[in-house]
Amino acid sequence: MAGRAVFRRDEFMTASLDFGSVAIDLGDYATSGLRIVCVGPSGTGKTNCGLLIAEQLAAQGWVSVLFDREGDIGALYEPMRDVAAFETYLRGRQDPILVVPVHHTDDFLHYGRIVQQVVNEARQPIFLMIDEAQMVSAPRKRQNQMGEASDLMNDFIERGRKRSLDLFVTAHRFSGTLHRTIFSNKNLTLIGRQEDPTAWPGLAPQFQSTKIGYPELAALAPGEFFCFSPRGVEKVQMPMAAALEAVAPKATRAKPALPTTYAEWDRALRDIPTPRLKALDGPLCGLLSTIAGLSTAQVTAGRRAKRDELEARPS
Ligand SMILES: Nc1ncnc2c1ncn2[C@@H]1O[C@H](COP(=O)(O)OP(=O)(O)OP(=O)(O)O)[C@@H](O)[C@H]1O
Ligand SMILES: [Mg+2]
Repeated sequence: MAGRAVFRRDEFMTASLDFGSVAIDLGDYATSGLRIVCVGPSGTGKTNCGLLIAEQLAAQGWVSVLFDREGDIGALYEPMRDVAAFETYLRGRQDPILVVPVHHTDDFLHYGRIVQQVVNEARQPIFLMIDEAQMVSAPRKRQNQMGEASDLMNDFIERGRKRSLDLFVTAHRFSGTLHRTIFSNKNLTLIGRQEDPTAWPGLAPQFQSTKIGYPELAALAPGEFFCFSPRGVEKVQMPMAAALEAVAPKATRAKPALPTTYAEWDRALRDIPTPRLKALDGPLCGLLSTIAGLSTAQVTAGRRAKRDELEARPS
């Protein structure tokens, strides 16, 4: 018998996410699927992140399902009337974005089980956004509806990969709020401003081996996040989701930042043709760095990324 083929989702191979100055190449997630966790207190821009990702994936072949806890998304899109309508729409895949009113644990169970059924039967990409997940996931086992909801959440997280189900979950805090299955299986993490220093001990392990500490986290503005992906950690200024932009007062545009970290340089250099990359050397490189006002650390990271990039290319 032939060896088992590596499980790979083709839709990821050509897909990407645009987080403003940072692009996430979804090819990195072809074998794992996406399990995004977005953490931050009220007003950090979590819902906007989820909407933005939902819109971008919806434009690339996914059906995005938004579980709307607070009714704020339903105000932007027409929400589903009932469970039966939702099932029809989800199976039909005509509408790329479906908003579902999930105000109680009960709603989560009804609509969630439809999602579970549909992904079990038809393995076509679905992106599920679960805002305010502390309402449907608990750190400890419970016997009531909350326990059932928590089990359903864990099922999404653990079995989503092979069912073409990608997830986005938000929470106010990092630990102690959701079941640990969610945190131990996440593979794209967005952490927004934390003004409460008592939240730091729960977050600190995430930032280990980065130079980022609590002061940097506390200094983030709304819409700014530290983004952890397989390529490293980067600060991102999330663009506004189109649905929100249509109703929100204009946000001031962030000035595009020059690459700082190795991962940022790595991304910036990837699309530069080899002869040009080779020409970026010696005194010219120093002159350009000075004009651009790059710090020594930035230049060092850039040189290293360039060397690695050239070595990785066929000569
Ligand atoms: N990327 C962004 N750029 C500029 N402003 C933003 C951005 N994201 C969010 N905001 C502003 O912050 C406000 C709150 O955003 P959002 O509702 O997404 O936060 P939240 O974290 O979901 O808050 P809550 O926990 O209360 O639901 C928005 O109304 C918007 O004005
Ligand atoms: Mg929100």
